[in-house]
Amino acid sequence: MKPVSSFTDSEFLKSKQYKDSSNLSARIALHRDYGTCTVGVWQWFFDMLLATLGSKARILEVGAGRADLWRENADRIPEGWEITLTDLSDGMLEDGRKQLGDLADRFEMHPANVQELADADNTYDAVIANFMLYHLPDRPKGIAQIRRVLKPDGVLFACTLGHNHMRQYWELVRSVVDDPNMALQGQNPFTLNDGAEQLGGSFDDIVMVRYHCDIKLTDVEPMVAYFHSNGDEAILSGQYDDAVRQRVQKEIDEKGHFFIQKDTGVFVARGGA
Ligand SMILES: C[S@@+](CC[C@H](N)C(=O)[O-])C[C@H]1O[C@@H](n2cnc3c(N)ncnc32)[C@H](O)[C@@H]1O
Repeated sequence: MKPVSSFTDSEFLKSKQYKDSSNLSARIALHRDYGTCTVGVWQWFFDMLLATLGSKARILEVGAGRADLWRENADRIPEGWEITLTDLSDGMLEDGRKQLGDLADRFEMHPANVQELADADNTYDAVIANFMLYHLPDRPKGIAQIRRVLKPDGVLFACTLGHNHMRQYWELVRSVVDDPNMALQGQNPFTLNDGAEQLGGSFDDIVMVRYHCDIKLTDVEPMVAYFHSNGDEAILSGQYDDAVRQRVQKEIDEKGHFFIQKDTGVFVARGGA
């Protein structure tokens, strides 16, 4: 398992973890197929966008990944929204483009590191930075770049994870993998717990809204795929897989499912210009 520094190692993220969308897809599948909520995260998030932005808006998404937000809300994107999708990884953007299919023509898409945005000051009504600010090696710089490209009354939407996210998963991994670095996992550097303070360097009106959903897993293989999506060579060798399978299967047999607590939400940040 890579130590926690891999969280913010842009070269590792670009060339390995996010060289394409396969690792992210394994994690998304677990949330999508076994979530306990009736409203999916991107529907919940889009409802908030619609309620906040007018019918005309210039929107930048940084670290857009597979562009799921847009694909899942394809039929309700207002015509007057001009949307630019960016990501550090070319491979990720390419997979996003494939996923969008014909809808891709609706967007301007190009690679960009949020710490070095080329856009002019005061360009966007909204910036979306979902599940990605924790990847920045210099977060104050990236957050200041977002503030710079936003119009003075623009809004940042930034989903992230809380300290208890995937708690039972990490307990399982620590109990199975004999690696001192495992203790560091979960030390996410931008969470629901400390993100407001970090955003406070550039914004002065910050609200956090939680998304309520957990996971009840009724099949072991999605857990193994998730485990591999975060794994180093030792994990990818498959040596721990049977132990993971046994733990998960035991709880499914006893309780009907393997329960995993999620802890996610969004910061909506304004002001500070
Ligand atoms: C966990 S994924 C989230 C993807 C998408 N926002 C979502 O919520 O599904 C993190 C994404 O951030 C991108 N990323 C990491 N560091 C970045 C940076 N410095 N600038 C722009 N994108 C970055 C990664 O390539 C990856 O696609």
